[in-house]
Amino acid sequence: MMEEKLVSKVKDWIAVATALIKERLEEPLDVERKSNYSDLVTNVDKEVESFFVQQIRKEFPTDKILGEEGMGGEPVTDFSGRVWVIDPIDGTLNFVKQQENFCIMIGIYEDGKPVLGFIYEVMKKELIWGGPQVGVFINDTEINQISTDSLKDSLVNVNTMMFLQNDCHTQEIGLTSLGVRMCGCAGIGFKDTLLGRHHVYISYLQPWDYGAGLVLAETLGFVTIGLDNNKLDLKKRVPVLVTTPIIYQELQETYEEL
Ligand code: IPD
Ligand code: CA
Ligand code: CA
Ligand code: CA
Repeated sequence: MMEEKLVSKVKDWIAVATALIKERLEEPLDVERKSNYSDLVTNVDKEVESFFVQQIRKEFPTDKILGEEGMGGEPVTDFSGRVWVIDPIDGTLNFVKQQENFCIMIGIYEDGKPVLGFIYEVMKKELIWGGPQVGVFINDTEINQISTDSLKDSLVNVNTMMFLQNDCHTQEIGLTSLGVRMCGCAGIGFKDTLLGRHHVYISYLQPWDYGAGLVLAETLGFVTIGLDNNKLDLKKRVPVLVTTPIIYQELQETYEEL
């Protein structure tokens, strides 16, 4: 299928998922805990992921699906063929406590190679989408510039726990920058880096937290690396750095291990 057709299909599905989320926000949420006290999941996370799984299964029955809530069945270990990486609601804590600052994220890979990425910040109505064959857009406007600002003139967005514990030099990097921001949503972290609202994003992320953003960041020529000296291969949770080539060079000059 031509990528344009896939884009339009996914945009339609995101619109349906958005309507579902907004409808569910008018009722009390059913909230459960997963691995720890602050690791929440709601009925809406599960329902939205199930919706995407159903659509994909109907249209593309042989495709594989790696979704945070496991609605697509067994975890994906073999990335041959087409794989969909889905985070139905990224920023569940924000979703539950703020009813804003959360995203829907979908990444599409073919034999492990990035094809398309979609990050939709639902309440802000901002969709960043695209891939190597089509370019990257914010809603209908193409993005084609990467900032050349240095770290001292840039905001950085970091994961709160990493910053508090100074993991991966996040405190030093923050103190060298113009200012530190924390948003609790990987989708916003990626989107706002790619839009130049800040120029660094650092967080511990699972494959579904970075699957969509990686496609978009790589297409635009941003640096995306695992700070454990690993390539981002969608197989495990890693500390992720997303930044501009200029700032990456600065960081490498200061921190040998980056
Ligand atoms: C979380 C958010 C958050 C990140 C966490 C993720 P979720 O995703 O992306 O920004 O710091 O590591 O788990 O669970 O709300 O989809
Ligand atoms: Ca979660
Ligand atoms: Ca997430
Ligand atoms: Ca999620």
